[in-house]
Amino acid sequence: MTLVSSTPLLAETRKKGYAVVAFNVHTIEMLQAVAEAAEESRSPLIVQTTVGTVKHLGIDYIVGAAKAAAKQASVPVALHLDHCQDFELILKCIRAGYTSVMIDQSMHPFERNVEMTRKVVEIARPLNVNVEAELGKVGGVEDDIRVEDDAASLADPEECRRFVELTGVPTLAPAIGTAHGIYKGEPNIDFKRIEDIAAQVDVPLVLHGGSGIPEAQVKRCVALGMAKMNVATELKNAFTRALQKCFAERPDDLDPRSYMVPAKEVVKRLALEKMRLCGCTNKA
Ligand code: 13P
Repeated sequence: MTLVSSTPLLAETRKKGYAVVAFNVHTIEMLQAVAEAAEESRSPLIVQTTVGTVKHLGIDYIVGAAKAAAKQASVPVALHLDHCQDFELILKCIRAGYTSVMIDQSMHPFERNVEMTRKVVEIARPLNVNVEAELGKVGGVEDDIRVEDDAASLADPEECRRFVELTGVPTLAPAIGTAHGIYKGEPNIDFKRIEDIAAQVDVPLVLHGGSGIPEAQVKRCVALGMAKMNVATELKNAFTRALQKCFAERPDDLDPRSYMVPAKEVVKRLALEKMRLCGCTNKA
């Protein structure tokens, strides 16, 4: 298959009560690992990269690898650009072959967020590229973006409705109490707010900060309308810890391929677990 837009992958999710997991990958091996997990569990897959990873790997390497994964897969695979504030970079990624982009203007006033999101939607829609935008501010650290606890704010349901109407955005990430990174305690999710937002807008909703949310809470979020769950930190940490373990256990092994194998396996197992949690297993 070729890379597909994430729009059709998310289309039925709310109605059918599952969410597609979007995995942030930092290396080609992580991309391969989540693709293997998707294939094995017959799950639709969204691979996503932050702007930092775009700078690190390069757009063409990422698109090339994602296309290779999609070609080998019998399940649908989309490639998404996560949390991008840079309009020009969004255009470059779309031109290069990304099938989904996030324009993140959540740090700006509502009107500016509307204006920029609408601009991206106008370009992306005719090209069949999905667009995601954020309302409210998700706290925590995601790559170069840091939102302190006191600056985080929750999305307002009525504003969500107006935002979707004004922008035509096909996917919305409302801040509902989750945060990027590892939680210090339990996440403080405002379930009532998810319900209220879902009652106001019928586009697929995106749950950011998917690392470390307890199983029952993930399931509740999905049941209330979260259609895509982003997972970054847990995957990155598991990959790196697996590499560290190899270095500690086999300091004389100097073949990079031999330590990538167990690290990929750890990422794949974690990806399978997240897909099970979100109920997207066998939904491809
Ligand atoms: P975590 O790093 O908490 O998994 O959040 C991922 C995310 O929301 C990426 O946009």
